[in-house]
Amino acid sequence: MTDLSQTAVLGAGVIGASWTALFLAAGKSVTVFDPAQGADAIVQDYVDRAWPVLEQLGLATHARGQLRFTDDPADAVAGAGFVQESVPERLEVKHALYARIEPALASDAVVASSASGLTLSEMQGGWQNPGPLVLGHPFNPPHLIPLVEVMGNTRTRPGAVETAERFYAEVGKITIRVNKEVPGHVANRLQAALWREAIHLVTEGVASVEDVDKAVWAGPGLRWATMGPTTLFHLGAGAGGLAEFCTRYADSFNRWWDDLGTPYLNAETADRLVAGMAEATAGADPVSLSEDRDALIAAMQAATAPLRKG
Ligand SMILES: NC(=O)c1ccc[n+]([C@@H]2O[C@H](COP(=O)([O-])OP(=O)(O)OC[C@H]3O[C@@H](n4cnc5c(N)ncnc54)[C@H](O)[C@@H]3O)[C@@H](O)[C@H]2O)c1
Repeated sequence: MTDLSQTAVLGAGVIGASWTALFLAAGKSVTVFDPAQGADAIVQDYVDRAWPVLEQLGLATHARGQLRFTDDPADAVAGAGFVQESVPERLEVKHALYARIEPALASDAVVASSASGLTLSEMQGGWQNPGPLVLGHPFNPPHLIPLVEVMGNTRTRPGAVETAERFYAEVGKITIRVNKEVPGHVANRLQAALWREAIHLVTEGVASVEDVDKAVWAGPGLRWATMGPTTLFHLGAGAGGLAEFCTRYADSFNRWWDDLGTPYLNAETADRLVAGMAEATAGADPVSLSEDRDALIAAMQAATAPLRKG
């Protein structure tokens, strides 16, 4: 069985720095490779700032793992059982990195890519033998949002997906298995579907950006944070469950689906949204809003974790 105590993080920007903090909290040793000047200080600072919330959420389950930086990706992966790749979302950058690490990987190592938009098949093109590569797509910030979407395919080494799932469970993540390759995997497609209608409602003048956002976070968003949409509708028609719900509301949903908008995210739409966001946030900057978001996520996670059944 692959030894998952030693890990490598390749690319330590928004996503990689957060992965680093989470892995260290689970007692993993982490070797980071990121060519940006000053990346080591930025990552160290990120980990220190993330630590209190990792402790608060019960994710700091072990003594902090050992953190090391290297300027050689082959050195980073040497001896690692699990490698999380979070370099920029450009195929040529990912392929060039894979070519550098492939000869140095342990025979049973797993390399998980955080890629949001690129598909596994596209990324496999950068390998002599793509057996170790799986998709391990997180949500930002990975140390706070539990979900990871995991996927392999016929070119993936048997057992690599299961090893990735075992690793993610060890560091406190909740995984789903993506069975078929589609752009955006699962969760981003769901976000895109909702955002499309949110934009349509704004551009049609049905409600402001602020009110459409409020309609999500103060309404169904709170429920979605407890259970998924289909399970919630299973609870929406009494004892008859989902079958009764479908009977009762088929006409309504079919009517609404027929009426949903299909906006396109062009410059005009973006200007409209940006103006609406300026009104909604009264000029508050994204950094301070991110801090508010993270504090709210942490509080919700801490409150609900003891109630989760699995
Ligand atoms: N930002 C998000 O919300 C989000 C969410 C989920 C997944 N992802 C995915 O995670 C990956 C990274 O995204 P990000 O938002 O962290 O980007 P980012 O630009 O913040 O970070 C990328 C990091 O990679 C470094 N880098 C550049 N070239 C490199 C190389 N050859 N080797 C190693 N490091 C290199 C950069 O210096 C930078 O620190 C992408 O595939 C993205 O799709 C992003």
